[in-house]
Order: sequence, then structure tokens, then C-alpha cells
Amino acid sequence: MKNSYSNIFTFNKKILSKTIKVLNKGGVAGLPTETVYGLAANAYSKLAVGKIFKLKGRPKLNPLIIHYYNFHQIFEDVEINSNLKKLYKKFCPGPITFVLKKNKNCKISSLASAKLKTIAIRFPKHRITRSILKNTKYPLAMPSANISSHISPVSAKDVYEEFKKKIKIIVDGGQSVIGIESTVVDLTNNPKILRPGIISSSDIEKVLKLKIKNSKSLKIKSPGMFKKHYSPGIPVFINQKKIDKNSAFIYLGNRYKNNKNKFSLSKKSNLNEAASNLYKTFRLIKKKGFKKIQITRIPFKGTGIAINDRIKRAAKIK
Ligand code: TXA
Ligand code: MG
Repeated sequence: MKNSYSNIFTFNKKILSKTIKVLNKGGVAGLPTETVYGLAANAYSKLAVGKIFKLKGRPKLNPLIIHYYNFHQIFEDVEINSNLKKLYKKFCPGPITFVLKKNKNCKISSLASAKLKTIAIRFPKHRITRSILKNTKYPLAMPSANISSHISPVSAKDVYEEFKKKIKIIVDGGQSVIGIESTVVDLTNNPKILRPGIISSSDIEKVLKLKIKNSKSLKIKSPGMFKKHYSPGIPVFINQKKIDKNSAFIYLGNRYKNNKNKFSLSKKSNLNEAASNLYKTFRLIKKKGFKKIQITRIPFKGTGIAINDRIKRAAKIK
């Protein structure tokens, strides 16, 4: 069914086959996931993957996450290990990405993995993207559906804002419930968190029964990970106490009522809820025409670690 945005579609059987047709032909589709929306293409096809890099303006050095339906699909492409098995069992499908050694017979386009010897894989939970993955004969390379250095989209309209009509099809799967990108964990050696997310290092430690170095104290060279900034397009300042009259202020709790420049990420100061509202709030503030964003201090615990990671990047602080 078409709506006022002619390339945003409500999901049904017809749209499922239309999306698969586009992907089978080497095209690109905007798809919902539980974390953020992704820009999907056939991960086995260099031509298809090339379109993703071009649309995003993404540096070729920055590899893409490869999305699979389930465990059975990955044996050809990556080396399985016991940590992967344990984490898969506990968290998948879900908001976690595993970096693994590439297999000799790996069919993933080397463009997608930036010619590295490793591959990042994920099993998304969103039912729409799962049904698409179930019906394709290849996994999907799928970075967040934003122009490089912009913030990730959390709704179909956000994707439209990024690419307008440059992509044929954006499947509407509602607001992404988690709202920030997946946790990326490197399992090629001793497990390391490369990108914090809603699944925290202590969640992972509990499953693996070992200690993981805190990403805060780690300087990991994950391609594109620390060089890149995610910017809402206006200056962002973090750990703010004093509110400037003309800036938008992002905070936790319900201290301010009906104030036009104050935006609470969670009235109950719940950090998961705060994460899910972060990018949405950035986009809203930008749309309202504010020229500057100030953010209160966010506690450095649990999902707060992931929120601090994202707002630091938005503030262009390393
Ligand atoms: O939640 C998510 O992960 C979303 C949804 C759409 O699945 N995807 C996403 O993809 O955030 P992207 O491309 O925006 O971020 C992927 C991150 C990048 O920082 C990239 O450098 C890193 O994962 N990455 C990909 N392959 C890697 C590898 N082999 N080794 C280390 N880091 C890798
Ligand atoms: Mg991204």
C-alpha cells in the first residue's frame, strides 16, 4: 500500500515479494530492525554492496555488518567458536553483532568486509526483516540507513529524510524499539566490546563467565569506529549543567514541565527508554530549528555507557 511518501510501504505479502524482487536484482531497500533502520543489499554481490557505499558516501575502509536469519546460514562464511554459540543462545535474534574470522569459502563480497580477514555478523529480531531474510538465498549487508556521519534513523520517515527517492523501497516497521545500534563484540580472540549497546559488557560477562575489558579504557582499531562522528547537524555539548536560553536541553526525569526547549529522554530516568528516544529527540530538535543542543550528564552505567558513547560522538569528543 502506498502512502504520502511514495517509496515508504506498509508491510504485507505483496511488499514482501516486491522487496525480495528488488534485492534479488541487486537493488537496495530500507528495512526496519529493532535497533535502527538499515540499508540492505545482497551481501554476496559486489555490485549490490557497492550501491550501499555510494548512497551513504561511506568510506570503503569501513566494513558492513552482515545480517543472517539464523545460525545454520553462517557456517560457510565464518569460523564458529564456543563463545559465539553461548552468546547466540542467550541473545539472538537480537541487538548484538559478532566479529568473527572469515572462512576460506566465505561468499561475502570482499567490498562488504573492507577486505578484512574478519566479518561482523548479526541476527536481527524485527519480524519484518526476519521474514525478508528467511526468503532470500543470501545474507544482507546492512549498515544503518543514514548518510555517513549523520545519526541513525529510527523510523521509515527518518530513512526518507536521508535518501528521499534515491532508494526504491523503504519498508515501514514502526519506530525501532531499541533506538541505538547493536553492541559489537569481537570474538576473534579474547572477547572485546568494540561498540557498546543495550546488551552491556556485564551481560556478556555473565554468559561467558569471563571478564571483558571495558570499552571506555580500550583504544580499539575498529575501522571507522572511533574516527567517525555521528552528528545531528547542529553543535552538541555534553555534561551540561547551566542551560543557555537559546539552546535545546536534553535531560533525564521530569524536572521541567511544558517547557519548549527542554526535552526529557525518559520521565522515569530509565536508561533503556532514554536510549530509545535519543536519535528521535535529536531529529526533533533539529526540525524545530534550534541551533545548539546541550545534554545533561548521563550516568556511566548499563545502557548509559552506550548513550555516552553516542553523545560523545555527536559532540565530536573522542
Ligand atoms: O544495529 C546495528 O548494528 C545496525 C542495524 C541496521 O543492524 N547496523 C549498523 O551498521 O549499525 P553500521 O554499518 O552503521 O555500523 C557497523 C559498525 C561500524 O562501525 C563498522 O566499522 C563495524 O561495525 N564493523 C563492521 N565489520 C567489522 C569488522 N569486521 N571488524 C570490526 N568492526 C566492524
Ligand atoms: Mg552507522
